[in-house]
Amino acid sequence: MKKWFIGGLTGACICLLAACGGGGNNQSSSSGPVSNAPSEAAAPSASSSSSSATASTGNLVEKGQELFQANCSACHRIHEKLIGPPLAGVTKMRSKEWLYNWIRNSQAVINSGDTAAINLYKEYNQVQMTPFPQLSNQDIDAILAYIDAQSGQQ
Ligand code: HEC
Repeated sequence: MKKWFIGGLTGACICLLAACGGGGNNQSSSSGPVSNAPSEAAAPSASSSSSSATASTGNLVEKGQELFQANCSACHRIHEKLIGPPLAGVTKMRSKEWLYNWIRNSQAVINSGDTAAINLYKEYNQVQMTPFPQLSNQDIDAILAYIDAQSGQQ
């Protein structure tokens, strides 16, 4: 008897909830079940694409860190001068194209008459930076993403 009573109550509650959700109450957010459906359907794809963007940014930075350590860290630190200049903020100072060209062949940029490149070269006692013709734009993007990620952290 008691069991039946509880069961009945629960059933009644569910009915009430269902009635509530499906029924009137249109001004409140619960008008949702039907009208929210499209935006709910849109939401997962939007959020999954943004989370995959975050994930790929993370991977890019990781890849950049590996490339930086393998190729650049002998001469560069992010925040300190080593053999070459500190690289923090370099993506704000130079254009992407300049950086692609420079990193693949700094001498070519210097020889092209680029004043920024010539001044740097003089400032660093005409030490030649190793050319990295094997690095693709994507590789360099990864390195730059790593530099950017580190630039804010002292
Ligand atoms: C052999 C040492 C050496 C290595 C290795 C090296 N660099 Fe350099 N880099 C330099 C020097 C020295 C300069 C200063 C300009 C000059 O003397 O040619 C420089 C300048 C730069 C600049 C210009 C900085 C500015 O203020 O505009 C960037 C960007 C740069 N290097 C990125 C890299 C990246 C990325 C790597 C790794 C893929 C790398 N470098 C590897 C020595 C090096």
